[in-house]
Amino acid sequence: MKQFFVSLAMLTCLNLPLHAEGENIIIDPPEYGSIDTALGLEHWSRAYEVFSHPRCSNCHVGADNRPMWSGPSYGSARPHGMNINAGESRIGAEHILCSTCHSPNNIDLPHAPPGVTADWRLAPVEAEWFGKSSREVCEQLRDPERNGGRNVLEIAEHLDHDVILHWAWNPGVGRESAPYSLQDHVNDVLAWGAAGTPCPS
Ligand code: HEC
Ligand code: HEC
Repeated sequence: MKQFFVSLAMLTCLNLPLHAEGENIIIDPPEYGSIDTALGLEHWSRAYEVFSHPRCSNCHVGADNRPMWSGPSYGSARPHGMNINAGESRIGAEHILCSTCHSPNNIDLPHAPPGVTADWRLAPVEAEWFGKSSREVCEQLRDPERNGGRNVLEIAEHLDHDVILHWAWNPGVGRESAPYSLQDHVNDVLAWGAAGTPCPS
């Protein structure tokens, strides 16, 4: 036991990151221009499989403020049951707070509310992409007016920092994870950026 605390103290001194959750993503963008348009489009198409996956799109909804329930575990796609409305606050402050049911952890039972160690909430309205085509989402994500003012590197960093994103690959019993892995997704987004963010026509 003493040994354990000594090692823990040493780790803290060395300032080694102790990753409490999620993966440790490596952000290593290819050189700009080193990837041609055709290959860039292939990377985009894989990235779109992730963005449009239910684990990513159910919160990326528009101004009606209704989270979605979609994906095989939900049967047919429909707005969140129990008449949940996130309001303009996007956290349900006007009606019933998301955190009333969505706690900081997944609960190990099928159909229990999923949770993360940050506020469970909808994405900003301008980041709406539920049901949108590959081309639409592509154009939206390369437009700083609609992507939270981020360049591609900043999008990739956001993908790593946000615990909600890590959740999509650890979504709790009975839900399918987002495809590939978070590292693959970050690599695809960076490669798409290095190709000059081409979008399908
Ligand atoms: C009364 C409890 C309750 C409240 C309040 C609530 N939820 Fe949920 N939510 C659930 C349950 C239960 C599920 C899982 C249902 C299932 O798996 O069949 C869920 C699932 C979800 C999902 C789907 C996640 C996925 O991809 O599997 C989203 C998105 C979601 N909630 C968003 C919200 C948001 C945003 C708020 C606040 C505006 C909110 N919820 C408020 C109970 C609640
Ligand atoms: C529980 C709801 C929720 C889920 C599920 C979710 N997001 Fe988000 N997303 C958010 C919120 C909230 C923000 C705004 C965060 C911020 O700006 O700090 C956001 C912002 C983003 C942004 C920045 C774009 C912008 O316009 O602000 C990207 C990119 C993104 N999410 C990708 C994803 C991907 C990829 C997945 C699945 C792996 C995912 N999100 C799943 C809630 C969610």
